[in-house]
Amino acid sequence: MKKLVLLILITLISQSIIAQKKIWNETQEEKDKRLEWWRNDRFGMFIHWGTYALAGRHEWVKKHERIPDEIYNRYFENFNPDLYEPSEWARLAKAAGMKYAVITSKHHEGFTLFDSKYTEYKATNTPYGKDVLKMWVDAFRAEGLKIGFYYSLIDWHHPEYTIDRVHPMSANTQEDYDELNKDRDMGIYREYLKNQVREILTNYGKLDILWLDYSFPGRFGKDRDDWGSVELLKMVRELQPEIIVNDRADLRDYWGGWDFTTPEQFKVTEWPTYEGKKIPWETCQTFSGSWGYYRDEYTWKDTKQLLVLLIESVSKGGNLLLNVGPTGRGTIDYRAVNALNSMGEWMKYNSRSIYGCTQAPESFEVPANSLLTYNPQSNRLYIHLLDYPLQNLTLKGYEGKIKYAQFLHDASEVRITTPRMHWNQPEISQSDINLRLPVNKPPVEIPVIELILEN
Ligand code: GLC
Repeated sequence: MKKLVLLILITLISQSIIAQKKIWNETQEEKDKRLEWWRNDRFGMFIHWGTYALAGRHEWVKKHERIPDEIYNRYFENFNPDLYEPSEWARLAKAAGMKYAVITSKHHEGFTLFDSKYTEYKATNTPYGKDVLKMWVDAFRAEGLKIGFYYSLIDWHHPEYTIDRVHPMSANTQEDYDELNKDRDMGIYREYLKNQVREILTNYGKLDILWLDYSFPGRFGKDRDDWGSVELLKMVRELQPEIIVNDRADLRDYWGGWDFTTPEQFKVTEWPTYEGKKIPWETCQTFSGSWGYYRDEYTWKDTKQLLVLLIESVSKGGNLLLNVGPTGRGTIDYRAVNALNSMGEWMKYNSRSIYGCTQAPESFEVPANSLLTYNPQSNRLYIHLLDYPLQNLTLKGYEGKIKYAQFLHDASEVRITTPRMHWNQPEISQSDINLRLPVNKPPVEIPVIELILEN
């Protein structure tokens, strides 16, 4: 009996090795090379823009309020962003320290910002009448930013797209779904989606990122077979071999089916892994509670929270994609502009602790109330002081490792001394080091100490 179980196990394992599912034959080294710029740049802008901006109450408004097409169409009929100046957006992103940007070429509502030949539901057919995506690409490229397209696999407009549990017309029972879907053919939609992805990957030059969104397998859900994900990804790799793709097409078990994972509105507690290995990751986050423009939403994160989000992501080896939802006029909400400017102010002096940085080697203990990042190239360690200490910062396990210490924002020396003692306090270890800090917190939201390490 035991032998039999063992035999079955061995066959199963060897079969899975032989039949490793693959989109393409890229090697791990080639993949690392392809992702190098993205890992280095760390900070990007997400842009959610569509006709939902006119509703001004969430990009899911059609689903949340179960709005029928005839009514929802009013946002399409009135889409006319007369103040749209993508070069202003690009400058804003760049000044904030962002190095790349990803825009919704199509969101779940089905409306395309690009001039697709497969639909009439597109920006060029609105009163605005222009290929919004093309303008965006030109402007962002001109500012030297890397560019990416988000494309929604989900589509709440296409007549052949079968109704599922996230659709505005979602139902309760199998019978209801059967009835609703009896004249719909997902095969036709699958072709449509492939055609549109081909369009965005061929009509706008070289792209850096593709962000497909999203799969929800299970009852009344959709998965790789609904999207035709395997074929889709093969086409993507062929058309744009350098492009970096997210992980929402339900191809986790396919080599080449995804490049990085995407914890959404979620602060990871540690560097995410897959099959025991640390994987590239990027958290996407909003300034407030919605991706699309939401006029009456007030849960805006403050500058410190946003900076911590960025620093903490890098401290765990990841990226941050921070979202703006432009208005129906084509401008960016003043609250987002303010937040971006404040982040930019910090980045101007401190970005050295972000770009090219990653998680610090474990041998460096993280001091209380701080976050560490590390640049392996320059061999420098960055201590971000989230809660400014009173004059002394003790570093454990750093003895003999520090050549020089300075504040990052003004390159002023931070003196290294021996730890201070008091007769009734526990003995401080010989290997501890003390950084002598000025009483007053330097005039930066989160001060950073740069440690130049011994080789
Ligand atoms: C979700 C939402 C969506 C948003 C996205 C960003 O999947 O459906 O509205 O675009 O996440 O990660």
